[in-house]
Amino acid sequence: MTPTLLITGANRGIGLALTEQYLEHGWRVIACCRFPGSAPHLMTLKKRYASLSTHALDVSNQAAVAQLSETLANTPIHLLINNAGLYGPKGYTLGETDTAAWQEVLSVNTIAPLVIAESFLPHLILAAQDGHTPILAFVSSKVGSMSDNQSGGGYIYRSSKAALNAVVKSLSIDLRPKGIRTVALHPGWVQTQMGGPNALITAPTSAHGLKQVLDTLTDSQSGSFIDYQGKEIGW
Ligand SMILES: NC(=O)c1ccc[n+]([C@@H]2O[C@H](COP(=O)([O-])OP(=O)(O)OC[C@H]3O[C@@H](n4cnc5c(N)ncnc54)[C@H](OP(=O)(O)O)[C@@H]3O)[C@@H](O)[C@H]2O)c1
Repeated sequence: MTPTLLITGANRGIGLALTEQYLEHGWRVIACCRFPGSAPHLMTLKKRYASLSTHALDVSNQAAVAQLSETLANTPIHLLINNAGLYGPKGYTLGETDTAAWQEVLSVNTIAPLVIAESFLPHLILAAQDGHTPILAFVSSKVGSMSDNQSGGGYIYRSSKAALNAVVKSLSIDLRPKGIRTVALHPGWVQTQMGGPNALITAPTSAHGLKQVLDTLTDSQSGSFIDYQGKEIGW
């Protein structure tokens, strides 16, 4: 059976690069983004690959997530990558935290990935019943690591990814009996809209590394935090 990837935030940046990598390797890709009709790169890929389908999905819209899960009922999903993410406000100092913006970032970076995992669990279980080992992957960030935090600040984004890591850890324990592997990924510092032009690596380089990590993910790595070069990151 052709393996299937479902990915969020597939219209640009790391999500788009991952979409392209998996299509090149013969996967069926269910690419989700807020506005597929105005996602030119996805449209170009669609002309090249019949195995690509696109779906409108704002990850923070729980009704839309439930609807998509229903639309795709009975479709086994071998790999689900929760990639969509938001940095939120930049350059604010202590005393200026915008709590409304914080709630929005938590909604997209932390709450939505768990809601999506819950909604697509039946699809992952279908893949497991087919003899595959499905993977639930979350694009986190090293910035969410407590042990790596040497510079302070970044309260909103850091806390959203740290909380996401806690979600990943619990999922890895809860889903072990179902034969599903779970992993938090750090994509590197990547040249995207979020990473900016001074970032160290391109999106295709990050996507290539992340795919290698996912291709070789073992049971003992489930529930860990791994970067695009395969290096484990401390929580
Ligand atoms: N770039 C880096 O250096 C870096 C480092 C560590 C971690 N990350 C993580 O990598 C992931 C991808 O980021 P990126 O660098 O590729 O950033 P990006 O180019 O800014 O892309 C962000 C993606 O998330 C989508 N998104 C944001 N809010 C959404 C929502 N409510 N519903 C659906 N999609 C939404 C965006 O869609 P729209 O186009 O519709 O806005 C876009 O597709 C994020 O989780 C980010 O935190 C990035």
